[in-house]
Order: sequence, then structure tokens, then C-alpha cells
Amino acid sequence: MASPRNSVMSPSSTRMRAMSSFSRTMGLMSRDILGLEGRIVMVTGAGRGFGRAIAHGYGRNGATVIAVDPDVELATSVASEVEALGATAIPIRGDMSVGQLVQFNAYLAQLTWPILGLGRVMAMYQRGFTSLKRLLELLDREPAVRDEDPLPLSVADLSGEVRLEGVGLWRDGRWLLKDLTLTVPEGMTLGITGRTGSGKSLLAALVPRLMDPTEGRVYVGGYEARRIPLATLRQAVGVAPQEPFLFSETILENIAYGLETLDRERVEWAARLAGIHEEILAFPRGYETVLGERGVTLSGGQRQRVALARALAKGPKILILDDALSAVDTETEARILQGLKGVLGRQTTFLISHRTATLRHADWIIVLDGGRIVEEGTHESLLEAGGLYAELDRIQRMEVEGEVEG
Ligand SMILES: Nc1ncnc2c1ncn2[C@@H]1O[C@H](COP(=O)(O)OP(=O)(O)OP(=O)(O)O)[C@@H](O)[C@H]1O
Ligand SMILES: [Mg+2]
Repeated sequence: MASPRNSVMSPSSTRMRAMSSFSRTMGLMSRDILGLEGRIVMVTGAGRGFGRAIAHGYGRNGATVIAVDPDVELATSVASEVEALGATAIPIRGDMSVGQLVQFNAYLAQLTWPILGLGRVMAMYQRGFTSLKRLLELLDREPAVRDEDPLPLSVADLSGEVRLEGVGLWRDGRWLLKDLTLTVPEGMTLGITGRTGSGKSLLAALVPRLMDPTEGRVYVGGYEARRIPLATLRQAVGVAPQEPFLFSETILENIAYGLETLDRERVEWAARLAGIHEEILAFPRGYETVLGERGVTLSGGQRQRVALARALAKGPKILILDDALSAVDTETEARILQGLKGVLGRQTTFLISHRTATLRHADWIIVLDGGRIVEEGTHESLLEAGGLYAELDRIQRMEVEGEVEG
């Protein structure tokens, strides 16, 4: 380790150097600007003690010190210090008349506020510039998932089938998903469950290509997902995410987000399916109710159902419900899921849930653990098998009973 003595330049010597270069520059400027003999020293961002020291040193030599600092107090204190010194030191040297001194004071008074303002604007500019830099960094980021030589496909060309072949996802030095092989035929409701962090959301993210797998292939609607134009793929897949994001717009606009035109009928149809229509009408401004900071705050369950309506509105071939009704009570959830089955018919559904009660609605269920499928079957067959699924079911039943007793 370097000894502290020669490792870094002491702060005071750095400051002194900066100070002398400042004074040289300002000294040249001073004659042009004010027509005064002597120097002007500008102090910016200095501590109070340092500012005073400069004021004292330079003031004694008949210089003018201008303090510029966002801290108004500091600037004012330094300025008054100089004035005091300037008023006494300069006449004694005899190179300034009383008239000049008065003139000088008048200039100084006129300069104070503009210079303070300049300091503030400079600080604001610097903050703004830093923010802009961060924003540009974000905008310049290349997306990891892009169109790569896509086939000329439209939504009508795709079926509802989803197939994974030996899929693995490697991130941060470990396999988050591994050896996933799976076929979900059109129209099937596939239940996905497992403990928290087992890879359920990641598996679902592969279908609309929010991520690409590290190994293996994903097929959607009969084509490899990578070869489908992203716009087509995302039109075909509707996702009701675990943590829905709603915009500070009207409910109508939030639900119509994925539609090409703002189709009110379509929006209401989707809202009915999502079991939120009545609640929306109960708001004072109905579908025109603005959400967010300047509008209405929705409950967790309401947010989830608005997000579900958004996913449904575009009539997706593949619907992904990522714990999409976790904040809704089980009876309402059952009603919504039943409704979905009746209306959407042939659509393929990924039903991700922690609740085994929810998974009853699935045709086939896979259980994930550590990114692998550890069990699969129907609700009944999995309960019988007495594995992880049965264990999760048992724990949930105990929790429900506990709540009833409590
Ligand atoms: N973008 C990512 N980069 C790296 N690791 C990730 C990423 N997304 C998720 N993970 C990790 O992958 C694992 C699986 O995450 P995932 O979100 O799929 O879990 P989950 O089964 O949906 O859990 P939950 O039931 O809590 O929603 C977790 O350990 C998580 O920390
Ligand atoms: Mg998840």
C-alpha cells in the first residue's frame, strides 16, 4: 500500500492551484469588463472558510472577489467580507478616488443577484445534464431480442400450439431453466406451478420472446419463435403479468392499449370477461376515469383485472396468465376462468399460479422446481402421486383453515 504522504495531492494544494488559474483568467477579464485596475477573483463552490480566506487575501491586495455559489448564504457572507476589506484597503493605497469607490460599490450591488442567479442556473444545468446522460444511455441500449431474418407471417398464419424443445436459460452463472421439453396443443389450458423462484414467469416469458433461450428451441403456432416477426408474435400472445403496469390514462385507454383502434365495444367485452366491467361503471366517470397519481387508485385485484382485460381485448391466440388473479378471491377467480373457457374456446392458455385451487381449471399441470419440470399430470393425478404438488396443496389447505379459525 502506498504511504499516505505521497499517495494523493493534499486538498489544499489542489485548491490553491485551481485558485491561481482562476485568478489569472479573471484578472485578464476584469480590465475589459469593468475597466478597473486590479483583479477579480471568482469563487465557486468553495467552503465558507476557504471563501473567506480568498476574500481576505485578495481583498487586501485591492482585488474584487465575486462569490458564486448555489448556497446563497455563503456567497453573501464572502461578498460582504470583501466589501468590508475593499472599502478600507483600497483608499489607503491611494489609487482610487472616493467617487470611484462609490461607483465600484454600485456595480458590485448590481452584480450580486445576477451572479447568484448564474450559480443556480449552472447547478441546475449540471443536474439536468447528468439526467440527460442517463436517459440517453437507456435509449441507446440495443435490445437483446430483435427481429432476425423473420418470415413474412401474420397472426392468421399462426396456430395456438406452443412447443419447447430442450430449452435451457443460463444467466449469471446458473441455469434458471433447464431441459424443458413440452408441447401445448391449441386450445389447452396448461397449469404451471412451483415454489417462488422456480422459473414459472421465465418459462412464460419465452413465448412472446421477452427473452430468448440459451439452448433449445421455442416454437409458437408452428414456427420457431425467432423467425416470427416480433410484432406478429406479440400480437398473437396476450400476457396478463404478475405485476401489472397501468398508465396514468383513462381506464378505456389502458384496456385498449394493444388495439389498433380505440374500439369501445371490444374494450367493454374484454372488461366483462375479466369481471371488472361493473366496477368500472361504478366509478364516477366510468371508463373515462383517469388512473394514477392525478386520478383514481385501483385496488390490487382491480389492477390485475384491468390488465387481464387489456390482454384479452386483442383476442390473443395464446393467453398467459402469470398469477394474474392472485389478488382476487378464489370464487371470483373461478367465475372469471370459467367465463374465459366458454368464450375464448380454441385459445391456448398458460395458467400460472401458486394456488392449487386455481390449477383445478387446467387441463394439464406442470410443476417446476429449480427451473426443471419435476412433476406433471392432472390436478387429481398429481394429488394422488403425493409429490411436490400434493405438498403445496396440503400447505395451502392448512393456511386456509388457519385463516378461517383465526
Ligand atoms: N432477468 C433475469 N436475470 C437473471 N435472473 C433472473 C431474471 N429473471 C428472473 N431471474 C431469476 O430466475 C429465477 C426464476 O424466476 P421467476 O421469476 O421465473 O420465478 P417464479 O417461479 O415466477 O417465481 P414467483 O412465484 O415468485 O413469481 C429466480 O431465481 C429469479 O431470481
Ligand atoms: Mg413469477
